[in-house]
Amino acid sequence: MGENHLMLKRIARLEDEALSRLKEVKSLETLNDWRIQVLGKKSELVMIQRTIRELPIKERPAIGQHSNRTRKQLEDAFEKRKEELEKLRLDPLLKEQLDVTLPGWPVGLGSLHPSTQVLREIQSIFAEMGFQVFDGPEIETDLYNFELLNMPANHPARDMWDTLYISDTVLLRTHTSPGQIRAMRAFCPQPIRVILPGKCYRYEAITSRSEVMFHQVEGLAVGKRITLADLKGVLVEFGRKMFGPKREIRFRCSHFPFTEPSVEVDMDCLVCEGSGCSVCKQTGWVEILGAGMVHPKVLENGGYDSEIFSGFAFGMGPERIFMLKYGIDDIRLFFRNDLRFLRQFE
Ligand code: PHE
Repeated sequence: MGENHLMLKRIARLEDEALSRLKEVKSLETLNDWRIQVLGKKSELVMIQRTIRELPIKERPAIGQHSNRTRKQLEDAFEKRKEELEKLRLDPLLKEQLDVTLPGWPVGLGSLHPSTQVLREIQSIFAEMGFQVFDGPEIETDLYNFELLNMPANHPARDMWDTLYISDTVLLRTHTSPGQIRAMRAFCPQPIRVILPGKCYRYEAITSRSEVMFHQVEGLAVGKRITLADLKGVLVEFGRKMFGPKREIRFRCSHFPFTEPSVEVDMDCLVCEGSGCSVCKQTGWVEILGAGMVHPKVLENGGYDSEIFSGFAFGMGPERIFMLKYGIDDIRLFFRNDLRFLRQFE
């Protein structure tokens, strides 16, 4: 009886082990190995069944029945697993297992491009001073880009802007100044206080200081009794909001056909505080924009009576402003899409 009991236990253990190993079987190939091991001629179960006839007669039925039942159970389990695996093979989606306990991938968050960031900062500084944003087209006509800005055909000043022409009369704007005419024609005879941000294009060799495409922000104020002092006040305010409360600006005489008088505006170098360094080329000053009083002819082209109205205009390059602020020495970095550069300004 004791030996009989041991035999039954052995069969039960064998069944348990075989079934738990069956759960690990993930392919039809390994399933076949399992079958050979568990139910094949050399399996433990078959060995046991062979020894039954050596047992005393009265013990044979119990062991025989038990081992047959086990065999049947293992065969059924085998068939069931085979069916499952065949289904998996046909349906690849079922094969994909989702382990919800694995740590997730961090979601890559984008951020605003440096040009967008600085454009928005410029816009909000001027918004505080009552300037609205006005939009002009990037594809312009020769008329708006040059002619109405007091540069008729063959005017030598056109050489200041190397132009990408689309046809004889259509071009990619070389500056945001044509927006001055568009704004004046839209607002006339109301007073104006607008900035015009946008992309500009120049047919230029790409270097660390010049790109074919870049942004500009134009500013325009038109009204009665607007003077150069207003321009200076607005630009000082801008310089200090953008670069810190200690900044000073200075005007240098210059020439643009659409402003009279014209100035170029420098700010004291924020790197060396004016004492001279490589950023300001030892002068203590860095150029930040071009500006001037709107030329009477341009006011007239915009529809305003230049005897009654006056105005100022300025144009700055936000990439340049950004470079000054963060000490960047190559404008090409802006449009190279190099994440190592862009991520520094997230
Ligand atoms: N449009 C000029 C440029 O691109 C800048 C400017 C704008 C100068 C407005 C005067 C007034 O260089």
